[in-house]
Amino acid sequence: MIVEHYGEGLTELNVEEINAKTFMQFDNYILGVPTWFDGELPNYWDEFMPDLEELKLKGKTFALFGAGDQKSYSENFVDAMGILANTLESGGGKLVGFTPNEGYTFERSKALRGHEFCGLPLDFENQPRQIKSKIEAWVEQLKKEFK
Ligand SMILES: Cc1cc2nc3c(=O)[nH]c(=O)nc-3n(C[C@H](O)[C@H](O)[C@H](O)COP(=O)(O)O)c2cc1C
Repeated sequence: MIVEHYGEGLTELNVEEINAKTFMQFDNYILGVPTWFDGELPNYWDEFMPDLEELKLKGKTFALFGAGDQKSYSENFVDAMGILANTLESGGGKLVGFTPNEGYTFERSKALRGHEFCGLPLDFENQPRQIKSKIEAWVEQLKKEFK
């Protein structure tokens, strides 16, 4: 849906197939990560983390979206997005695409920065009818925030 709304200019890569070299070829990134295992990265992102932690990301800009379930995993809602965000910032990367926490009900999230998420949480389980409009608004936001 993000690709569809963004229009021209995106290259799609499957994170299960990336390595440090293919990852480094861009300046602007939209990265997606669901949260699994009670607040953790899914396996394929987890396997790339040792490489990602070594990369120099200065000059690169990242927007994150994260699938999660605020009702069943209220204490770890979209945590993986926060974990990824911290690693990208430690490497010198810049984050864009923050969104307000209004409209979500949860206990805790590592993706929360004050009253904003460090990306776009998408809850397919509890808010399926909001996904399309959230993505449309977020894509317009990114078009302004990417250099
Ligand atoms: C075993 C399991 C653990 C999960 N853990 C979390 C979690 O800690 N936090 C969260 O926000 N969502 C959690 N979820 C919800 C998933 O992130 C959500 O269903 C998401 O849409 C899955 O996306 P995927 O099918 O692309 O992997 C979990 C789901 C399952 C099945």
